[in-house]
Amino acid sequence: MFLRKHLYKNCNGLKLIGMNKSNIIKGKCVDLSSEGKGIIKTVYGVIFVDSLLIGEEAEIEVTYVRNGVGYGKIKKLLSFSKERINPLCPISTACGGCTFQNASYEYELRYKKHKVEEDLKRIGHIDNVKVNDVIGMEEPYYYRNKIQIPFGKDRGHIIYGFYKSRTHKIIPIKQCYIEDKKAGPILADIAKLMEEFRIEPYDEDRFTGIIRHVLIRTSKLTNEVMVVLVSNVESFPGRNNFITKLTKLHPEISTVIQNTNKRDTNVILGEKEKVLFGKGFIIDEILGLKFAVSSKSFFQVNPIQVEKLYKTALNFAKLSKNDVVLDAYAGVCTIGLLASKDVKKVISVELEKSAVINGINNAKRNNISNIEIINDDCTDYINKVLPKVDVVIMDPPRKGSTKEFINAVKKIKPSRVIYISCEPSTLARDLELFKDTFNIEEVQPVDMFPRTFHVETVACLRLKE
Ligand SMILES: C[S@@+](CC[C@H](N)C(=O)[O-])C[C@H]1O[C@@H](n2cnc3c(N)ncnc32)[C@H](O)[C@@H]1O
Repeated sequence: MFLRKHLYKNCNGLKLIGMNKSNIIKGKCVDLSSEGKGIIKTVYGVIFVDSLLIGEEAEIEVTYVRNGVGYGKIKKLLSFSKERINPLCPISTACGGCTFQNASYEYELRYKKHKVEEDLKRIGHIDNVKVNDVIGMEEPYYYRNKIQIPFGKDRGHIIYGFYKSRTHKIIPIKQCYIEDKKAGPILADIAKLMEEFRIEPYDEDRFTGIIRHVLIRTSKLTNEVMVVLVSNVESFPGRNNFITKLTKLHPEISTVIQNTNKRDTNVILGEKEKVLFGKGFIIDEILGLKFAVSSKSFFQVNPIQVEKLYKTALNFAKLSKNDVVLDAYAGVCTIGLLASKDVKKVISVELEKSAVINGINNAKRNNISNIEIINDDCTDYINKVLPKVDVVIMDPPRKGSTKEFINAVKKIKPSRVIYISCEPSTLARDLELFKDTFNIEEVQPVDMFPRTFHVETVACLRLKE
């Protein structure tokens, strides 16, 4: 403990007492952290190391300390795991977005299954449930259909890329290996046109400039592309000519939106939006149904895996013709609309108004009439209406659901609950709250985010008799 305190007090620029002058220490990776970093245990305490694989030994440079834990990077690898591969991406270490670019995909999938099992045990105190092998991708690259990129300036030139881990310094990119290949050439031309039209990127220290971020959404099915220019001002000189030139260079762009964000914040999108070109949304398809997606709507980012994810959820739900389904945390009603053809009625409840409007239009677009789409907090809705439902399908954000929502579900007693989660730790916390009323029958992780440490999970719960 004493030594750990020294590590805590003395890192951040200073040298560690007991370590050599350069904060270098040797160690062997014994496990992986919840963010996929290699764990080494030293006399100074635990150190989490980027890109270090289990079993590997290395000289580590400790770069900072937080809450008594050291964080470091590999200075020199002393032994190599047979799972180590060369990363496709040249900036994978500096960017930090892809934890597993240097490991085999099988290693990554094993880690993800282990992470779900461990969180269920450690956080949810659930150790009697079988976690299935993770459903992975055949080609775990170029999948993301949404990318948000900051723009800046370096030595007089416009740059764009990803923030270096834990900083606001932009590392320029040409191609991100997990994003749709359609995005890279559009970003390159936006940067060129910004130089030509003298449109300055936003400078967050001086609060000057115009373009803060560019968000691109792509559709795998229709090949439509949405470009959102997130700007610090409501209008800028040359805007129309800029858009005309951009859409001529890229006829695949079907809509351009300007989003205004004047706030000093890390939140990318502001409130105000103006459609500058096209209809303001793109159409995508999942399992034969068409969905409109606008700039702010939640839509799963991996178009190939999303079909496997939703098929898993619907198989778990074992729907039948007389069932009523509550689709909670519905987004643009993807799951609700997919479930609708197998049941009597679906009630989709979603808080975000623009997603509800998309959902209503999506129902019309697919000629589906046995769905009721409600703009409300899903807990409030259940407590007010006490709907009689057979199945609840819930897909909350990363922070998980709430005790209040889970208590409301227990009140209406559906025979099945299907919980879709993108964060195993909050899933485990919430499943523990369900345990007194529901049996947890099966848990299926699906890899929606290959090469990163994130994993999606579907859990199937059945009401106890
Ligand atoms: C992970 S997304 C799931 C969306 C959808 N099920 C899908 O697969 O595309 C979570 C959604 O829950 C919504 N949400 C968050 N809190 C909510 C609440 N208290 N009540 C209803 N919806 C909520 C968010 O706006 C978001 O659309």
